[in-house]
Amino acid sequence: MQNKTPLFTKLVEHASRNPIQFHIPAHKKGFGMPSEFSEFIGPNALSIDLINIAPLDDLHSPKGIIKEAQELAAQAFGADHTFFSVQGTSGAIMTMIMSVVGPGEKILVPRNAHKSIMAAIILSGAHPVFMHPEVDSNIGIMHGISVDTVRVTLDAHPDAKGVLLINPTYFGISCDLKSIVELSHQRGVPVIVDEAHGVLFQFHEQLPLSAMQAGADMAATSVHKLGGSMTQSSVLNVREGFVSPAHVQAVLSMLHTTSTSYLLLASLDVARKNMAVHGHELIDKVIRLAQGARRTINEEIPGMYCFGEEILQTSATFAHDPLKLNITVKELGVTGWEIEKILRTDFNIEVEMSDLYNILCIVTFGDTEETVEALLDALRQIAARFQLQEKQELPEVRIPSMPLLAVSPRDAFYNKRTEVVPLREAAGRIMAESVMVYPPGIPIIMPGEVITQDNIEYILENVKAGLPVQGPDDPNIEWIKVLK
Ligand SMILES: Cc1ncc(COP(=O)(O)O)c(C=O)c1O
Repeated sequence: MQNKTPLFTKLVEHASRNPIQFHIPAHKKGFGMPSEFSEFIGPNALSIDLINIAPLDDLHSPKGIIKEAQELAAQAFGADHTFFSVQGTSGAIMTMIMSVVGPGEKILVPRNAHKSIMAAIILSGAHPVFMHPEVDSNIGIMHGISVDTVRVTLDAHPDAKGVLLINPTYFGISCDLKSIVELSHQRGVPVIVDEAHGVLFQFHEQLPLSAMQAGADMAATSVHKLGGSMTQSSVLNVREGFVSPAHVQAVLSMLHTTSTSYLLLASLDVARKNMAVHGHELIDKVIRLAQGARRTINEEIPGMYCFGEEILQTSATFAHDPLKLNITVKELGVTGWEIEKILRTDFNIEVEMSDLYNILCIVTFGDTEETVEALLDALRQIAARFQLQEKQELPEVRIPSMPLLAVSPRDAFYNKRTEVVPLREAAGRIMAESVMVYPPGIPIIMPGEVITQDNIEYILENVKAGLPVQGPDDPNIEWIKVLK
């Protein structure tokens, strides 16, 4: 069954009949657009850039080929239901949160959550109860949430309507999701999972457990990030019991464009087939490539460190995705951002992201020995350019402190009584907007939180280093909006 691609196959069949189109999109197979674009994109892609006419089903009320494709995906992901999203994992995450919590209801959330989670909290009016992730002050990143943290937080908030977890973090660290699911279910609370970086977990036993394998109720799982579908396409996996699939469909529909891209939907269908049929073998190869690279970096490249399973010590750092190569460069006395720029200008290599201390590279089905060797070769040359820093000169690793939530994020965001003040003088004020570095898109401060001096210094340090700080109305991040 998993060999079938009902959606993609039907689209190709439809396009090959070459119907005369009197429906949107106006470009009509590419003829109604400038040739500089249509010739570059190619006629095949444009011939299936279609819309929800009757033979092609409708994502908002699937009964035909989309329904079939979603059912095959559910089977592959071990879910009871799978919903396709063409609004990224952000759209799937917002659907998931707004399906379980409403205004004033509590949801437990790790503080190092993606901005889409914070957006859903503002839109839903839910009250976030933030859980502190484990902090790694050696590498300068945040990990998962421990089982104890969830237990203590549920004890303090027995009226919570949901627990949200990240599986895994951007950097590839998973918490003990299965134990947390068991604990939350004993209390009657559903567990929903941001699985933006975990799409392959279902398909290989050497990777951490997927959210569905761990028994979670919903997971927003990014097929486009690591599973090979087109950018912006994602899935929402649902297990029946604590949540109603019909309600999830209704919320998904509220948050989705009515003009769903069939290119994106078709790419989900084909990526699912690839992962289900060939995933294990492909992941075997990619794990070998990534682990080889990790060994080379750690054994042969001075001043660089790529963490692996050795950092797994607690229930907050319980499992590791080896396909993420997070390379810590602080011993070279440069920022990750500078290394990112050198890789771009001198080696024509683009990384996934960087921060003050690290660069993050992902290894996927699209890699070969050659691409990985090109990266290693560049890293060797870069390391040779920089002197190793004396231990006492190593930069102090700074991680933003967790601000206190004084007002609900929704109340702060919609509050009309705001003013703009210089960032440098904002300590003690309550934020009315967000500040984050993107990627990874985790707010350093969000609406409703009390700004600390430490937050201000962290933001200034990131701005000074040239990192992509964003969020406030002022793009220069000199002024920020606070409550009066
Ligand atoms: C942890 C995490 N969650 C959610 C998202 C949102 O995914 P998307 O970009 O597909 O909307 C991202 C994207 O960077 C992410 O890193």
